[in-house]
Amino acid sequence: MIEFNSIFPTLNDIPEKFRLDFPIKQSTYLLDGEIKTWEGNYREVYSPVYVENNNEFNNYIGSYPLMGKDDALKALSAAKNAYNAGKGEWPSMTIEDRIDRIKKFVLLMKEQKESVVNLLMWEIGKSYADSTKEFDRTIDYINDTIEALKNLDRDSSRFTITDGIIAQIRRAPLGVVLCMGPYNYPLNETFATLIPALIMGNSIIFKPPKMGVLLHSPLLKAFQEAFPKGVVNTVYGHGKEVITPIMESGEINVLAFIGSSKVADTLKQQHPKPHRLKSVLGLEAKNPAIILEDADIDQTVKECALGALSYNGQRCTALKILFVHENISKEFVQKLSAEVENLSIGMPWDENVKITPLPEQGKSEYLTDLVNDAKSYGAELVNPNGGKFNKSFFFPAVINNVNSNMKIYHEEQFGPVIPVITYKDINEPLEYVVNSDYGQQASIFGKNPENIATLVDTLVNQVCRVNVNSQCQRGPDSFPFTGRKDSAEATLSITDALRVFSIRTLFAAKENDTNKKIIRDIVKDDKSNFLSTDFIL
Ligand code: G3H
Repeated sequence: MIEFNSIFPTLNDIPEKFRLDFPIKQSTYLLDGEIKTWEGNYREVYSPVYVENNNEFNNYIGSYPLMGKDDALKALSAAKNAYNAGKGEWPSMTIEDRIDRIKKFVLLMKEQKESVVNLLMWEIGKSYADSTKEFDRTIDYINDTIEALKNLDRDSSRFTITDGIIAQIRRAPLGVVLCMGPYNYPLNETFATLIPALIMGNSIIFKPPKMGVLLHSPLLKAFQEAFPKGVVNTVYGHGKEVITPIMESGEINVLAFIGSSKVADTLKQQHPKPHRLKSVLGLEAKNPAIILEDADIDQTVKECALGALSYNGQRCTALKILFVHENISKEFVQKLSAEVENLSIGMPWDENVKITPLPEQGKSEYLTDLVNDAKSYGAELVNPNGGKFNKSFFFPAVINNVNSNMKIYHEEQFGPVIPVITYKDINEPLEYVVNSDYGQQASIFGKNPENIATLVDTLVNQVCRVNVNSQCQRGPDSFPFTGRKDSAEATLSITDALRVFSIRTLFAAKENDTNKKIIRDIVKDDKSNFLSTDFIL
């Protein structure tokens, strides 16, 4: 019997290692190389984890600066000055020197691991194991980015001569990049754009997501110490107050945003010269699993539960709708329901915990509405505890007999609700994919190579990754990660990100004696950082 009423801990229930001295007031921000003290209003931070004291539940854990237009424009001006039309210290630094700065940042960042992981757990309710994984994955991502940049630079460290023209082709920065990550991976997905943007020589304005702000505060000093002034600047507050003026200035060269397509469209339209704006967007998805008649039911159930419910289903890559062949659907749904009922629930620090409280305000109510809406159109709520909730904690719900009249068929639930549809004809899930607004990934479960091949060939032209007998996911980070339709713009992977945040630019000269001498002199005496045959070892 699951005790929802007593799911939240008292202070004494929390292991000492994870008790923080709340509330944490983040009164600092990074502007133009200085860690400044904030004098204005604050925004309060509430945790998905409530702490009980004599039947009172408290989840207030801190606050951070609530900035306005003037503060945002100061950050923009600092970033612009640091770039200085490409003549700034950072964009004109050699790649090797930039790599050294990033390495310094990694060392400083690692010192903050415990604080960052702890705040990840408290701010967004991610389990200790997954929070640690997020931190470590981010460190690996940065180190792999350094190696990828070395390779890119090595490939560009030579001249080519074509049709009588001597050329050297390299990648150059784009200018000022606005980086905005999502709450579900506030560290990893923010740094997956911020670090490549930075290492390519751009200046950064960094706005953390609404949930997942405090965890960045231990890193402000690392940014300050590792990079020249103005290269990284932080802004906090309501998007309308701080992001709109930055976008309307027309001074942003790249928008790196992970969130909803609606917000992305609004931000892009605020730029007065949209053709000058490069957008790198990770948006919504509704990745389907297509479970064929010959699928291994036990393995498929396990993989689908994992794919639908890792971090409570709050992943853009989560499996958000399951299509099961009618001949196996009864057994599949029964087993899926049992699997879900057995998941261990609790607080982020509980060992092996799989389902934890949700950070978005009103999320349990939203998910309840989705379940009730589906029931009103004839769906069945299958698992006994499905949909029970207590404040921010919502027990995963498996809903069967879903159809297109229901909200859950169309909306990205981004939470622990698993809609299941029984199909007769394979064209039913395929039509779903074609008609969907989203086009990120799909998973196929089955054994027959011929059937799988046919489906793969159809789906690769609708989504950007087709997984076989495996859940949808972003990793490994060396693989391209993108989507069609409302799911993404531009491609991210370790190497792709370096390209996305830079542009190819070249030196070119007619092959004659005068030009050859000029080139020889420049290269021999290391007169230019661009025109160089130095090979990074
Ligand atoms: O929220 C979307 C993330 O990019 C998903 O990444 O598949 O590694 O969890 P993941």
